[in-house]
Amino acid sequence: MLTQQQVKQKAAEYAARYVQPGMTIGLGTGSTVFFLIHKLAELAKSGLNFRAVPTSNQTKKMAEELGIPLTTLDDVDVLDLTIDGADEVDPDMQLIKGGGAALLQEKIVAAAGSQLIIIADETKMVTQLGAFPLPVEVITFGWKQVQRKVLQAGCKEVNLRVKDGQPLVTDHQHYILDCHYGVIENPAALNTGLHAIPGVVETGLFINMATKIITANTDGTIKER
Ligand code: 5RP
Repeated sequence: MLTQQQVKQKAAEYAARYVQPGMTIGLGTGSTVFFLIHKLAELAKSGLNFRAVPTSNQTKKMAEELGIPLTTLDDVDVLDLTIDGADEVDPDMQLIKGGGAALLQEKIVAAAGSQLIIIADETKMVTQLGAFPLPVEVITFGWKQVQRKVLQAGCKEVNLRVKDGQPLVTDHQHYILDCHYGVIENPAALNTGLHAIPGVVETGLFINMATKIITANTDGTIKER
């Protein structure tokens, strides 16, 4: 039986095969992508020619340290593909992301190409989204108004994300509200509804964006869909 870390590593290393010579890729964020970054650094050292656009400061720092050639979204027209993790994946390949607070940049990068490969362990696969609290990135000004409106619209509980006793500030200087729905019946409608609230910058609902899901299991098997 593999540990959860080993499972993440398996999915991530498997996904690295989709990075082909000459590509410019979006590089996700999180503990699964951690293993992808290591694998890609190895491939870059052994001569694979590619460039990456990082989805967070954390990924940027790690990729730089390991020698992965980086570029910015402003220097690229279209990304060949993005590889990223997810917090929940439903049977229609709709996602909740943002557990690592990088959802805004992750969504912008994923939207810069037509291929989004998700790497995850089997525990992220759900029949319906919503058990994982939905991260919503908001402007710091007046964030309690957004909290109130999300609650009024039917969310059970909305918490400001805190780190080391202080509100967590994202790479783009916003806050994160973690929104507890339990079950999200209609992810696309919820995404649209949340975007209509002034102060909401982005939601962790990635609707019709994922094109491939790669999962690994504790028995070492890998599934692609
Ligand atoms: C960060 C994300 C991550 O992709 C998501 O939280 C999954 O992370 P991990 O691979 O650590 O479980 O959306 O904002």
